[in-house]
Amino acid sequence: MSIAVLRSFIAKRQEEHIARQAAIKARNSKAATEEVVEVNGSAGETSTKVEATSSSENNIAKPIRVLEALAASGLRALRYAREVEGIASVLALDSDKVAVEACARNIKLNGSVAASKVEAQQADSRVYMLTHEKQFDVVDLDPYGSPSIFLDSAVQTIADGGMLMCTATDMAVLCGNNGEVCYSKYGSYSLRAKYCHEMALRILLATIESHANRYKRHIVPVLSLSVDFYIRVFVRIYTSANAMKQTPSKLAYVYQCVGCDNFCLQPLGRIVQKNNSTRYLPGLGPTVQQQCEHCGKNFNMGGPMWAAPIHDTEWVSAILSQVCEAKKRYPAFDKIHSILTSVSEELIDVPLYLSIHELSATLKCTPPSAIVFRSAVLNAGYRISGTHASPLGFKTDAPMEVIWDIMRCWVKEHPVKAQKEETPGTIILSKEAKLQADFSRARGAQSKAQMKGVARFLPNPEENWGPKVRAGRHIKPKHGNLLNTATEGKSFENPAESDDKQKEAGL
Ligand SMILES: C[S@@+](CC[C@H](N)C(=O)[O-])C[C@H]1O[C@@H](n2cnc3c(N)ncnc32)[C@H](O)[C@@H]1O
Ligand SMILES: [Zn+2]
Repeated sequence: MSIAVLRSFIAKRQEEHIARQAAIKARNSKAATEEVVEVNGSAGETSTKVEATSSSENNIAKPIRVLEALAASGLRALRYAREVEGIASVLALDSDKVAVEACARNIKLNGSVAASKVEAQQADSRVYMLTHEKQFDVVDLDPYGSPSIFLDSAVQTIADGGMLMCTATDMAVLCGNNGEVCYSKYGSYSLRAKYCHEMALRILLATIESHANRYKRHIVPVLSLSVDFYIRVFVRIYTSANAMKQTPSKLAYVYQCVGCDNFCLQPLGRIVQKNNSTRYLPGLGPTVQQQCEHCGKNFNMGGPMWAAPIHDTEWVSAILSQVCEAKKRYPAFDKIHSILTSVSEELIDVPLYLSIHELSATLKCTPPSAIVFRSAVLNAGYRISGTHASPLGFKTDAPMEVIWDIMRCWVKEHPVKAQKEETPGTIILSKEAKLQADFSRARGAQSKAQMKGVARFLPNPEENWGPKVRAGRHIKPKHGNLLNTATEGKSFENPAESDDKQKEAGL
């Protein structure tokens, strides 16, 4: 995936370079015309407004400089240098002497292209990045666990318009098992909610933005992925004191009801446009009542997290086309294709997601099929999409009231056993639906991927795939699931539960 993004970044940079050159040319010819007018007019003195034409004649963007800040044996550095055209150099840093020696050996073993482009160096990457301001077009951070200690220097070493590719594998922390630890690392409280994997992405984006802001910089997310047992984001970094003012309006806290699936975002800031002026104001709140209006329970509050789009949809489509055109160049084509297809269909303006199975679990009813549920939402006049972060998740702009009404209508047709009073499910079902749900098949109820028969989620590739029980621990029968013996090929696991299991196994 990183190779696909890198290739598309280089293509994008080239397009931007051409556009910049065209703009410079246009400015120059305008300036030249003005100059002629000035000379022919009264003043006679020529101005020197015209920019250097030599650069405007150069239609090829400079090859990029890549920093792999946590390189280990240099596997990624070598792949980037060998497989991606348009790279000038790759610096592979690691603080571990043995890793650097292994990297140097691997450079030698990987032929002349690797030898001419990749350099291995032993250094603490935090210090290195801090002392090389705006020196790299791409920085790759692939740490063990959290990238948080590398972010402050990473955002400084990236050139304007450059890209940060950053992984985090501390999913238990980011998914709310240790919200307080998440706060200490990322400055954000994570929640143990069904949408925790997308929230993890949004927490990581918010923390990168916060580090960038300290240097009058801001991020523009290109692609944000929750895959298997880690997350990885691809963001561009720009410098602009003015654009930075928009940051609070891109962040939000999350109120999560402790009784039902209801959640609500609380924006930190808002932007008000009046005539030609822009005002930056605090967010209006609270966006929820003291108790949940649906089930009467309290709210937990998480965040702040990134609430603006987490992908650039157009760019994602371009990466997807590029990958499809050069299928043979991607050994992991099926996986990349299925992830990007899911991402490309996500409602970009709807943060987080619900799950049909969780809604049904709250009401203790049989879940409607995805098509039936999606149809009801569409027939009610709202949008709905899947999410790449969970096979059972769905994003919708329908208010929670509408979602519960649809479920109330569903339960009318598929009655549930009587439950104890005062459970969230009983309270929700005790209210009459205001909306009459229409479950007839709606156009668009099937995703484009489903219509084309593209798998959105692939089963794990082989037996014993994925992170294992920590070395030295005795494998108990309860770890069977983790080792895929029982779940192989079944990817419909509750994300929060799966994190529990990983934590249980000490991963
Ligand atoms: C997860 S590994 C990187 C794996 C590598 N990117 C790959 O794809 O094979 C993390 C590496 O970061 C290195 N590391 C940890 N702290 C560091 C620091 N402050 N500066 C440089 N390297 C560091 C470790 O020695 C380790 O080799
Ligand atoms: Zn509730």
